[in-house]
Amino acid sequence: MQIIRELALLREAVAALRETGPTGGKARIALVPTMGALHEGHLALIAEARAHADHVVASIFVNPTQFGPNEDLDSYPRREASDVKLLTDHGCDLLWAPPVEQVYPPGFATVISVSGVSEGLCGGARPGHFDGVSTIVAKLFNQVRPDVAVFGEKDYQQLAVIRRMARDLDFDIDIIGVPTQRDADGLALSSRNAYLTEEERKAAHALPRALGQAASRIEKGGDVDSALAKVKAALTAAGFDSIDYVELRDAVTLQPVTNAKQPARLLAAAKLGQTRLIDNIEVKPK
Ligand code: PAF
Repeated sequence: MQIIRELALLREAVAALRETGPTGGKARIALVPTMGALHEGHLALIAEARAHADHVVASIFVNPTQFGPNEDLDSYPRREASDVKLLTDHGCDLLWAPPVEQVYPPGFATVISVSGVSEGLCGGARPGHFDGVSTIVAKLFNQVRPDVAVFGEKDYQQLAVIRRMARDLDFDIDIIGVPTQRDADGLALSSRNAYLTEEERKAAHALPRALGQAASRIEKGGDVDSALAKVKAALTAAGFDSIDYVELRDAVTLQPVTNAKQPARLLAAAKLGQTRLIDNIEVKPK
């Protein structure tokens, strides 16, 4: 796997990969954007990317603009050596790992802001977060120019924001969402799970369990408000310290909904100690 840290070299390397299509034609290129600290969830994205393209480019960049002033930018796990091994073993062709100055040179002044889908949920709890995400993903799209880009459904609102941005800005890129990968007890895999103490890790599975129970109540016609209240009560009983949100939203527009007459998504974010966990689950229409 090539490891590249300079934009001019990235462009050359991607252009060379493009020339190696299966029958002498242009190769399809997939991009998997990440912030590193890779786990099985990321490897599922790489596998999906391989299924859609001839070559896979992964990026590792801990993007400062998507972290708020009191968030975990400095402590965010950084493990490039083991990430490189995982990517190599899983058939990634090229790693784009630019330093911050390559991405945000002095004088950088542009922000991409997607309204609507970015409002409320994590957008409400983390002001400016999705502007940072949209801006870096737009830059990665322009830097790599992939045919396909793959993201996890664990960050469901992020996926909706990126789909909207790609449509609105005419990026000719297929955006593919991959179902959340989970530990045996149901906890969604996340680089931030590394922050959990042993005790918090045991309590964390209350989140997917409570969401699963609420989704099935709502699918059976149960009252949405009382299902959401039960999720909050279950999280508090399990020892979660605070709850940012537990909400039912339309699966595509992310507008609030009060029943599951259309495909919906139940989304939650809550804190265990210092660790903010997010999760979401499909709610099928009755
Ligand atoms: O999901 C992530 O890891 C990040 O938000 C992304 C999409 C790589 C942008 O920095």
